[in-house]
This record gives sequence, C-alpha cells and structure tokens, in this order.
Amino acid sequence: MKTPFERLRSLISSLPAAKIDALLITKPTNWYYLTGFSGESGALVVSRKGSTLVTDGRFIAQGRVETSGVRIHEQKGALFESVGQFLKVSHSRRVGFDPSQVTVGQLQSLEKEAGTRVRWIPAAGKVESLRMRKDRGELAQMRRAAILAGEVVEQAIGLLKPGIREFEVGAEIEYQMRKKGASGPAFETIVAFGERAALPHARPTAKRLRKNELVVLDLGAILGHYCSDITRTVYLGRAPKRIRSWYQAVLEAQAAAIAAAKNGAACGDVDRAARQVLTGYHFDHLFVHSTGHGLGLEVHEDPRVARGQKRPLEPGNVITIEPGVYSEGIGGIRIEDDVAVHADRTEVLTRAPRDLIEI
Ligand code: GLY
Ligand code: MN
Repeated sequence: MKTPFERLRSLISSLPAAKIDALLITKPTNWYYLTGFSGESGALVVSRKGSTLVTDGRFIAQGRVETSGVRIHEQKGALFESVGQFLKVSHSRRVGFDPSQVTVGQLQSLEKEAGTRVRWIPAAGKVESLRMRKDRGELAQMRRAAILAGEVVEQAIGLLKPGIREFEVGAEIEYQMRKKGASGPAFETIVAFGERAALPHARPTAKRLRKNELVVLDLGAILGHYCSDITRTVYLGRAPKRIRSWYQAVLEAQAAAIAAAKNGAACGDVDRAARQVLTGYHFDHLFVHSTGHGLGLEVHEDPRVARGQKRPLEPGNVITIEPGVYSEGIGGIRIEDDVAVHADRTEVLTRAPRDLIEI
C-alpha cells in the first residue's frame, strides 16, 4: 500500500524529464491522492524542495490534520493570486500546470503575480497517470464501493412496480447509498423507464413506470473517496422477443469484453471484443458509446476503454465494462460492471446478478 509520501515522491521523480522544477496541482482528487487533504479549495505546489498546500482559512486546520510533510501556506485574497505570489518568492523557475485544469483567467493571474522569472510549462495528466495503477489499499476501498453499489441496485429493483416515478426510485437509491456510508452518488443517478431508456444518460423525471417497459438503473457511490459504477436493466412484465435478443447480445458483449480485459491487452481491443459480439447480432449500430472508462477517485478517469485506444491494461487498472444498445422510441439496454486488472487475472468488483430480470 502506498502512502501519500511515496506517491509524491513518484511524481517528483518524473519532474526532471519534463524539465520542470515544480508542478501546480489544482484538482481536488489529485491533491487528495498526493497528500490526503480532502478540502475542496486550494492548490498544491509540488517540487523537489518540498510541497506546499495553499488554502484559505477554512481549511488550514484540516490541512494540518490530514497531511504530513506538506507545508501549509495561508491564502490571502484570491487563490490564484496567492499561488502566483507564493511562486514569485520560491526558487521554482519552470512551473508545470495542466492546461485542461487551469482556466485562461487563472493562468493570467498566475503569470501576473509570479512575474517574468517564472515560466509556465504545460504538463498534462501527470497525477492521473499515477492514479491509473491502484494499490492494494485503493483496490480494497473500490471493492467496498462496488459491493455497496450492487446492494443498492438490487434494493432498487425491489422497488419497481407500476406507478412508481423515476425520481422516486432515484431518490431512494441515493438515500440508501448514504445510509450505507457513502458520502454521495458518484454521478447523478440514472433511472429511465420505457422509451426513456433509449437515452444513455437520462435524468430521472416524473414519468411513472408502466407494465411492459424497460428500466435502466445506472448508479455509483463514493465510499471512502472512491467511486463505483453499475448498471442493470430489467423488464416490467414478460420481455418480448426483440428485447430478449438485445439483452442476450449485450450480456454476451459484456462477457466478451470482460474476458478481453487482461493485463497487457490494449484498451481498444477490449472495446472491440464487445463491438464484435454486437456486430454478430447486427446490433452494432445501436451501440452509441464506448465500452468503458477508468474508475477511481473520479467516476470517469483514465484509461479510456474506447475504439482505437492503444494503451495496454496494467495491473491495478480499474475500468467499467458497459456495452449497451439503444433504439429511439423503444428503449435501451445496458449492463455495466467494474473490473480490476491484476497481473494474472481480472476481478469483477460489482456483484449483482446479470441475467435478465422480469418483474
Ligand atoms: N455510468 C455513467 C457513466 O459511465 O457515464
Ligand atoms: Mn460508467
């Protein structure tokens, strides 16, 4: 199990190759990963000479309690002005930042306050690439988050009856998560009945469930900072032949992708495994998104499990496998589970039944 100190050390050892003296971290999940600081406002400056958390008065005490070996610098005034002023008097000359996480306005404040002696160097995804390989402690936490999500999806299936509204099911799902210790949902819970199941990211509405409708439930919990993500599709009544064939195709596509998700396999090959099964059923045109995504402190993180992705899976990667088919005016079917890649096996973390449930 890695300590934040070891993670910081790995990051610092990657700075010289990028020709930077310091790296500015502005994303909460990244500074949590590196230091254990769970406050939502601040910035972390990582350098070989030590790391400094710049944050405001609300988080100073919390920063001291949650971190060790990190200096805490109290922000005076606006955050990015404070960070710029701090860097102006530091010894860092080439400071990396992630252009996908710092706005143009924030960069302007940094440049103005830090002055011309500091050069700002784009350095994307450095912490995210460390975060892809989960250690033992992270995997243990992700197992718990995944099991929680499986329990909640099963409870939610138990609530389905004619007349219930999408938002009632969504609210119950999020309530049950919190009762089981989650700090909240990992994303807005998706509950889609009937035709609305054709929208892969349907938001719960006042729609009531009727007999002979599909139900897509897609939910995830944040437990101990780590996310889970599970989808199950059920049918209220006896499913017609077309729905059964879609379901069977998606189930087989998912099994093929899980089997392909091995240490060393390219992420694009995992995506292709799912797509090939759906092509065999002539349903590939109904599969309108990618097969999965990395999962961890964020619900969507690297690696991407999508067409053409060459990145090989490595031990410690946790990804979702979630093929689906969608047809406007009829509905949709998705089955999603979370898997962890190990050196010699692939572990499915989510544990709810996957066969078609007809209620
Ligand atoms: N389960 C929601 C998503 O992956 O976008
Ligand atoms: Mn997902």
